[in-house]
Amino acid sequence: MQYIDDSLEGKKILITGGAGFIGSNLALYFQKYHKAEVVIFDSFRSEKTFSNGHFKSLGHFKNLLDFKGEVIVGDITSKEDLERLESFNFDYIFHQAAISDTTVMNQEAVLRANVNAYKDLLDLCVRSNARMIYASSAGVYGNSHAPNSIGDGEIPENVYGFSKLMMDNLTQKYLQRYPELKIVGLRYFNVYGENEVHKGKTASMILQLSLQALRQKKVRLFKMGEQKRDFVYIQDVVQANVKAMESKKSGVYNVGSGNARSFNAIVACLKMDLGEFAVEYIDNPYTFFQTHTEANIVLTKEFLGYTPRFSLEVGVKNYLPSIKAIHASGVWSEIVQE
Ligand SMILES: NC(=O)c1ccc[n+]([C@@H]2O[C@H](COP(=O)([O-])OP(=O)(O)OC[C@H]3O[C@@H](n4cnc5c(N)ncnc54)[C@H](O)[C@@H]3O)[C@@H](O)[C@H]2O)c1
Repeated sequence: MQYIDDSLEGKKILITGGAGFIGSNLALYFQKYHKAEVVIFDSFRSEKTFSNGHFKSLGHFKNLLDFKGEVIVGDITSKEDLERLESFNFDYIFHQAAISDTTVMNQEAVLRANVNAYKDLLDLCVRSNARMIYASSAGVYGNSHAPNSIGDGEIPENVYGFSKLMMDNLTQKYLQRYPELKIVGLRYFNVYGENEVHKGKTASMILQLSLQALRQKKVRLFKMGEQKRDFVYIQDVVQANVKAMESKKSGVYNVGSGNARSFNAIVACLKMDLGEFAVEYIDNPYTFFQTHTEANIVLTKEFLGYTPRFSLEVGVKNYLPSIKAIHASGVWSEIVQE
């Protein structure tokens, strides 16, 4: 029988962006392991798209088929929609809602959704004394030298990374103004895992390459596949969020595996399970492309007690059965270009 922790009994948890990849994993984690009231606030997918053709909000009801809590449809950029959250008096807010697509160039839209809305949610925390745990990003480091450390080389290369840096700066201002407030920002690196298929072309490279291999027996990599990223499995990201609930020290922390791995390394992991397939190396069309990211997680370990449990090999092995199910169902068609 599943062990249920009752330490959060009677507590109210808000997850903004709870219909998305990381938010839905958090919601389902709390439902499975804790007695707490979980409320999701998300704008869900509409038919609206950005000029890059991607959906304006990526949340999908299929991520929440097993969710038993309350779902509120709303836009974090609408003060009227946010008012619906006022009467709950949340104990914890996990703020995941954002324009998560790093290729959106509309600066006004990205900053409004990612920065202004965060300020409104911080004000809600001040009023209700909720603890805020929010999603920042490795995007704040742009193409700075790795390993990436808090307070060093924070030079974002796109408006998405800039928006997350502005959230982190705002956090420091609020902590100075309201010393009793508890805020933890988590700079996620490259997250992969269950419930990301709805992100389409912005889903992780682990999913994209797996589906290419399954579908076409061939994957495409930018020359020569040696660019490195810190790939972190969703279960480690959930762990970091849960640890942040008890952190005595507010602040901003890196959340990665602590190791940089290449795209060729993903291919090697996939071949262990899927067998042989071809690799085609193509020219990289992007003028901006990170060549090496790697989370320095010394402070995350010390102050949050976070210990990543999934190497790339273990994470991919754990994830592949779900990817094979996605492939069998045909939902992959948005991701794999034929
Ligand atoms: N996945 C990663 O690798 C990664 C890395 C770094 C940071 N992050 C951050 O983590 C958070 C979650 O990312 P994700 O990968 O789960 O992305 P996601 O797009 O799957 O989730 C974001 C959710 O926010 C919702 N949303 C978007 N705009 C909204 C609005 N105006 N009002 C209400 N809801 C809105 C979407 O519908 C979606 O469900 C984001 O803040 C993202 O920037 C993710």
